[in-house]
Amino acid sequence: MHTTTVGIIGGGPAGLLLARLLHNSGIDCVVLESRDRAYVEQRQRAGILEQATVDVLRSSGAGERLDREGIVHDGIELRFDRRGHRIDFPGLTGGRRVWIYAQTEVCKDLIALQLADGAPLLFEAQVHSVEGADTDRPVIRYTHEGREQTLTCDYVVGADGFHGVARSAIPESLKRTYERVYPYSWLGILADVPPSCDELIYAHSPRGFALHSMRSPTVSRLYLQVPNGTDPADWPDERIWDELDARFAIDGDWKLERGPITSKAVLPMRSFVTEPMRYGRVLLAGDAAHIVPPTGAKGLNLAAADVIVLARAFARLKETGSAELLDAYSDTCLRRVWRAEHFSYFMTTTLHTDPDQSPFDTRLQISQLDRVAASPHAAAELAENYAGLPIG
Ligand code: PHB
Repeated sequence: MHTTTVGIIGGGPAGLLLARLLHNSGIDCVVLESRDRAYVEQRQRAGILEQATVDVLRSSGAGERLDREGIVHDGIELRFDRRGHRIDFPGLTGGRRVWIYAQTEVCKDLIALQLADGAPLLFEAQVHSVEGADTDRPVIRYTHEGREQTLTCDYVVGADGFHGVARSAIPESLKRTYERVYPYSWLGILADVPPSCDELIYAHSPRGFALHSMRSPTVSRLYLQVPNGTDPADWPDERIWDELDARFAIDGDWKLERGPITSKAVLPMRSFVTEPMRYGRVLLAGDAAHIVPPTGAKGLNLAAADVIVLARAFARLKETGSAELLDAYSDTCLRRVWRAEHFSYFMTTTLHTDPDQSPFDTRLQISQLDRVAASPHAAAELAENYAGLPIG
């Protein structure tokens, strides 16, 4: 039997960042990740880091490669009605900006630090259950290297994603869940071609939504709205480029560069929140507690915000014996979570074409986008949410 102060289920960005922050505060923990290291380091997710996420990666000692290889972005382009409109983040938010640095890279950096000097990080550790959430010594049961193990903890953090087991430690009778599934998905590609733009382009078009993002000066990341249930095999490379071309088309000079596509995947879109984010000595963080659709790139940043709040709460407990911040954890996080839920929903429903959409709905979307393009107040509201609100 093993014991630790904080047992962390999940070695994605939330679990790994929390482990780093706890390590820096001298609090011991163990991270249990069900997949192998290569999987965690390669699963494609979003690539935008908010100012606050960058700040915490830097201050925790995980910002060195981010500062070398991350690409600072001071704005995005909204494209609709065959025109482009730039939203300037620093000018509208008092200096906040975002970074292009993929989740895969954040995970690689945090894993390397963790294995070098951090607390134990076990890959391929399958957690079966969390028991005793309402006791002083909750227990995680898991299998590692063919052996059944138990980890007895002061606290358990469930950072094991939407499909993880930690959420089930909260009794059904106390749990409220809120959910919305969208009637479209994203087809996401990686292509070995320099981005055709300096900043991200979010495009509303009569053919549906498209997004031009990037991973590096030589790798582009692009997305197309597609119907739910789409098989990527139905989208040969030429068809993808032709459709992207059509959706990004504007009056004026612009050319989408094509290149070899190295990865294709269809991503469903969902909004989901579970409340509360804590029961007894089990606390949920990141996708285990909430999902946003990817339009606006809030998922990773919300996960980071959760664990920043959590790490502060554990540090306060250690230093003063006060559980005040831990007791406030769920309420503190949920305020930010619901703001991000609204923003992600707003970006998604303003930019995508619903299969049941009427011409009236389309006119409303265009009117809203026009408003953002014409009014510094409306633009500032978008910019503040996109670049990320400060963490309390
Ligand atoms: C990405 O680069 O993967 C990305 C960027 C912005 C989004 C979503 C995804 O809103």
